[in-house]
Amino acid sequence: MMNFVTRLLSRGEPIITEARVGDAAAIAAIHAASFQRGWGDDEFRQLIGERAVVTHRAVLGHKLIGFIMSRVTAGEAEILSVAIGPSWRGRGFARPLLDLHLRRLAGLGARTVFLEVAEHNTPAARLYRRAGFYEVGRRPGYYDGGATALTLRRDLG
Ligand SMILES: CC(C)(COP(=O)(O)OP(=O)(O)OC[C@H]1O[C@@H](n2cnc3c(N)ncnc32)[C@H](O)[C@@H]1OP(=O)(O)O)[C@@H](O)C(=O)NCCC(=O)NCCS
Repeated sequence: MMNFVTRLLSRGEPIITEARVGDAAAIAAIHAASFQRGWGDDEFRQLIGERAVVTHRAVLGHKLIGFIMSRVTAGEAEILSVAIGPSWRGRGFARPLLDLHLRRLAGLGARTVFLEVAEHNTPAARLYRRAGFYEVGRRPGYYDGGATALTLRRDLG
């Protein structure tokens, strides 16, 4: 019965809304499952509470399955982190999350958005390229383990 209810609630598209401080633990769990070096609940609590930080969450049924977070300063935004929980990847959920987030950043006055992505992170690279990001720099050895970071930029109209 529970499985049936969970499946029913989990169908369809996630609902994307602004995250609250109370989402910090769920966001930290997705982050920890997605990156080698996780950030703690407290770190997320602090970031979400920062005035200059914009965080969106994707909720499917009652479950927070993804998030995206940026800092906006003086007309420029930097995407700090984005992740979809491992079991929910590959279903196109990141795209509407990123699109809505970019619209919000534009609404807050950001004219350009930057981010760093590991060179061989194909899903992320495809997501960003499709959303209009282009490469403006490379940082060899930027990540633990020596991977190159690509700096990507997107101009907001
Ligand atoms: C990057 C991430 C957010 C994408 O989320 P998602 O909901 O799975 O993304 P989508 O399903 O929309 O797929 C994005 C693109 O990657 C492609 N893709 C998905 N999984 C893939 C895989 N395993 N290998 C290659 N390409 C893949 C999709 O086909 C899509 O490309 P397309 O639009 O050209 O067809 C997710 O993979 C993630 O959380 N990764 C770990 C955290 C991370 O790397 N974040 C980015 C750091 S900068």
